[in-house]
Amino acid sequence: MTVLEVQDIHKSYGENEILKGVSLSIEKGQVLVLLGPSGSGKSTLLRTLNGLETIDQGNIIFNGQSLIQSEKAWQKVRPEIGMVFQSYDLFPNLTVLENILLGPLKVQKKKRALIESEALNLLERVGLQSKAEAYPRELSGGQKQRVAIVRALIMKPQLLLFDEVTASLDPEMVREVLLVIQDLAAEGMTMFIVTHEMNFARQVADQIIFMDAGKILVTADSETFFNRVESPRVEQFLSSLAF
Ligand SMILES: Nc1ncnc2c1ncn2[C@@H]1O[C@H](COP(=O)(O)OP(=O)(O)OP(=O)(O)O)[C@@H](O)[C@H]1O
Ligand SMILES: [Mg+2]
Repeated sequence: MTVLEVQDIHKSYGENEILKGVSLSIEKGQVLVLLGPSGSGKSTLLRTLNGLETIDQGNIIFNGQSLIQSEKAWQKVRPEIGMVFQSYDLFPNLTVLENILLGPLKVQKKKRALIESEALNLLERVGLQSKAEAYPRELSGGQKQRVAIVRALIMKPQLLLFDEVTASLDPEMVREVLLVIQDLAAEGMTMFIVTHEMNFARQVADQIIFMDAGKILVTADSETFFNRVESPRVEQFLSSLAF
């Protein structure tokens, strides 16, 4: 079953065409990893997929429904597509628990009594059960990022988008966040992940997409991408990361 299909999307900022006809699809339970040099349009692509950016041309289809030109369709679909960014964007004046409950209470209008125990269960799953009453400033970067993942998970999204969620973390905190994502992959969560962590990409990806200058150059399974793809551009990219 295809969760998300992207057909030939184009996006420009002023004169600069950033996405030059990108097409891809994500099947239920699949983990897609998007790689590419800085400035190639990865974040822009991800932002178009949850409606944070408009597109100039093409189509985005979620569970068989076209989202183009329909703010109403987007409104319905947006809670189904979770996103975790490099910066965690937790509200500093709210506790961890209140940060997590904000979406379910305000957007989904759920009852606190029902949703609170679920929030605590999710916190336990990412090893943060003791931090429910802590404030974001009392957490490490890795802990904040795990809270951000819980905040996305509690909305029960059908698709989770990750944009370089470990990029601003100290090396020792990277692993704890990647383990949570690997755990989600093992449970069958459908995910689209931008990362610069090549070992992680190799382990977690069902499929790798390599983008350069707004176009997809290579789509391959992880094994093929890292061992057998014959592309000078990919080789150059991997060696620039000393991988
Ligand atoms: N809001 C914007 N207005 C104008 N130009 C933008 C905007 N957002 C991104 N760009 C430009 O689009 C191009 C692609 O940016 P994008 O952030 O998508 O790249 P990226 O692949 O995510 O790079 P990185 O690996 O550094 O995060 C860049 O040249 C950037 O300057
Ligand atoms: Mg980016």
